[in-house]
Amino acid sequence: MTESEIISVPAVIGHRGAAGHAPENTLASLRKAAELGVRWVEFDTKITRDGAAVLFHDHTLERTTDGRGEVAETTLADLRELDAGTWFDDTFAGERVPTLLDAMAALARLGLGANVEIKPSPGREAETGRVVAGVLKASWPATLPPPLISSFDKEALGAVRDAAPEFPRALLVFRLPSDWRSPLEALGCVALHCQAKHLSAAKAGAVLAGGFALRSFTVNDKARAEKLFGWGVHGVISDYPERILAR
Ligand code: G3P
Ligand code: MG
Repeated sequence: MTESEIISVPAVIGHRGAAGHAPENTLASLRKAAELGVRWVEFDTKITRDGAAVLFHDHTLERTTDGRGEVAETTLADLRELDAGTWFDDTFAGERVPTLLDAMAALARLGLGANVEIKPSPGREAETGRVVAGVLKASWPATLPPPLISSFDKEALGAVRDAAPEFPRALLVFRLPSDWRSPLEALGCVALHCQAKHLSAAKAGAVLAGGFALRSFTVNDKARAEKLFGWGVHGVISDYPERILAR
C-alpha cells in the first residue's frame, strides 16, 4: 500500500515540535507548534535505563537539560527531575522531559498528528523500536490519524515492523544511497525522509516514481521549501513551520 492509502500527512511538519520557538521535544514545543497552525509534528524518542519511552534527541543530557551523562544510563525518575527548558530560554524554566505517554495526551488535546522518530541509544536499537511501538500500539489516541514512525536505524525500524506492522514507516537517510529501494522494501516502508541539502530533482523523481512518499528535513527557508515542493516532495520538516505555512 502507498502512504496516501493509509494516512494523509500535511506538507509542513513541525521539527521536534517547533524547535525554533521552544525547547525541542517538550510539551511546550508541541503546544507552540499547534499555536503556529501546524497539524503534524515530528519528535524524537528513546528509552531510559529502566525502559521508559521519552522524548529526547541526543544520547547525552548536557545540551538540552541541566543533567549530565547518558539518557540510557538515567532512570525515568531521575530524568523527570531535570530542567529541559532553561537551556533554550529562561521563560521555559521548569519544562520537563516528557514521556511518550505525556506527549500523546498533549497531541490528543491539541489535535496534532505525529511523525514519531526512533532515536535508539547505541546497543538498544531493537529494544527501543519494540518499546516505542508497544506504547504507541497500546495508547495511541483514537481521535488522531495513525502515527508515521521513522528512524535512521534499520534494526529499530525492523522491530517496529514486527511489533506494530499496522503503523506506516519511513526510513530516514541523510544522503540517498544508490540502492535506496532495497531497505525501503525490506522494512515495508511507505516513505523516505532525507536531508534537504542532499536531494536533487532527479533523485526526488526516482523515489516518487517508485511510489514512495518523500519528505525532507530540516527546511527553515520558504524558497527552499518551494523548490522541493516543485520537485514533487510531499512534505518538509521545519523548526519554523510558520515560514512555510505562509504559502
Ligand atoms: O525526522 C527528521 C529529523 O528530525 C531527523 O534528524 O537529528 O533532527 O532527529 P534529527
Ligand atoms: Mg528527529
